Order: sequence, then structure tokens, then C-alpha cells
Amino acid sequence: MLKNSLESILTSEESDELISAFDQIGNIIIVRIPESLLSKKKIIGETLLNQVKIVKSVFYQSSPVEGDFRTRNLEILAGEDNTETEYKEFNCKFIVDVANAFFSPRLSTERERIAKLTQEGETMVNMFAGIGMFSIMAARKKKCTVYSIDLNPVASKLCEKNMALNKLAGKIISINGDASKIIQDQLTDKSDRTLMLLPERSDEFLDSAINTTKSGGIIHYYSHMHADKKSEAAKLSEEHYLKTTSVKSEILGSKIVRAVGPRYYQTVVDVKITK
Ligand SMILES: C[S@@+](CC[C@H](N)C(=O)[O-])C[C@H]1O[C@@H](n2cnc3c(N)ncnc32)[C@H](O)[C@@H]1O
Repeated sequence: MLKNSLESILTSEESDELISAFDQIGNIIIVRIPESLLSKKKIIGETLLNQVKIVKSVFYQSSPVEGDFRTRNLEILAGEDNTETEYKEFNCKFIVDVANAFFSPRLSTERERIAKLTQEGETMVNMFAGIGMFSIMAARKKKCTVYSIDLNPVASKLCEKNMALNKLAGKIISINGDASKIIQDQLTDKSDRTLMLLPERSDEFLDSAINTTKSGGIIHYYSHMHADKKSEAAKLSEEHYLKTTSVKSEILGSKIVRAVGPRYYQTVVDVKITK
């Protein structure tokens, strides 16, 4: 249906390319538009707004996700210029600000995997927690305590709102600041399970992750890995982790989380550490 309506303004190949490059988050659509189609961006925005029922705003993503806060530039194409929306995932509700704090609907399978792995009674340290997606999903599923840290004040504020929205106040502690400093000051040897979802900078923060994790605890080490063959990416990230870590580590598993570019993959290695 969407393809049919786009085909009144684009070729079949162009509309295929566009459909694979857009995300719907609550009542917002974010679309990445190739250079060759930029002259048609307004009409693309209006077509999407008219065709997708609950959508109130269509934004064009004019920069990659970038900077310390991992945010992106958005330009309104059609509808309301409002970047906040409500998003639902696996029985949890979230207020999301798609321009001012990191959010990706493409990590939902990984969020569910971590929530399932989390054990009753655990303490989790989520070092780069954003608006609290992983923290909330885990704490909704299991009785656990989560320290949810983020450098971006907008993300930490939204995490607090989302804790309240999901009735999890007290189970999650939202802390705004630099993860390495907060761990050093207050969270040494605290965590049974540590999440490191800042894949571009995992090596820089690995010592802090080890510092906050108890001996026998688990670190989920995310990274971006270049691999000529997709089948090699997870193994390469295990090897990279083992070369980088300073502690005895048992690899529990590894996998590709998602593709992030040509021959580039976001991977996760699950490791049990002994200190
Ligand atoms: C890729 S996002 C992950 C967000 C979240 N885990 C999610 O999946 O929605 C990385 C987050 O790390 C935060 N960040 C960057 N540097 C940080 C630091 N030194 N300490 C704590 N958070 C940091 C950014 O603000 C951003 O929200």
C-alpha cells in the first residue's frame, strides 16, 4: 500500500530503497533520503503522512547518529514539529524524544534477550542507558535493581519519566553523568550484570565495566566489527575482547546484533569475568 502510493512519485527501485530506510516510532516517521531524491523530500513526507494512519509527523534524518549523546539532526517534512512520542515495546511504555536522546527501535530483539537473561535478585549496571529502554524491560520482567547511567541530561530525565510510567520507581536508579566517574565514585563491585551499549567506545570503558562488575558477574560487551564475511563477525569480536580485557574471562556466547554498514556489524560478546 505504502509502496503503491510512493510509486506515484518515485520509481519502484527508489520506493524500495526508501521503505528500507525509514523507522516508525509511535506517531513519528523518520526517513533517510538518498542524495538523488532530496529534491522530492517534501512530497515524500506528505505522502507518508497521508498514507500511514496514526502518524502525526514525518522527519528527514539529515545527519548520522553522532556526538557524545549519539543524537541526530532531524528536519520536519510534514505534520507537527514535535519530536516527543509514546512508544510501546513488549508491554512497556516509553516517552521518546527522537531528536534529543538516543533511541532505536532496531534494538528491540536485543532488549528482550537481555531481559530474559537477567536473573531474579540481580543488580545490573547499565552504563550507557539512554532513556532507560534496557533497564525498564529487564526490571519489568525480573525482580532486579538497575543503576541506569547516562551522560545526556535529557536522556536521564526521560528515563525517570519512563520509570514512573512503568511503575518501576525504586527498582531503577537513574544517574546523570559520566559512567566511568560514577562507577569509580559509587559503584565498584556492585554489578551482577553490566551493559556497555556504546559500541564505538567499548574498549575505552572496559576497565570501568570490569570495576563495577563483581567477580563471577557478566559483562555484555558491544562493539562495531568489520568483517568480510558476516559469519566471521561474532568470532572476531570475541577475539578482540580477549585481546583487550585485563581479567580472566569465560566467553558465554557472541552474536551479531544488527548490521550497521557495508561489512560492518554491531556485535555483542557475553562474558563471565573472574577478578
Ligand atoms: C548508543 S546509546 C545507547 C542507549 C541505550 N542503551 C539504548 O539502547 O536505548 C549510547 C548512550 O551513551 C550515552 N553516553 C555517552 N558517553 C557516556 C558516558 N561517558 N557515560 C555515560 N553515558 C554516556 C549517550 O548519551 C547515549 O545515550
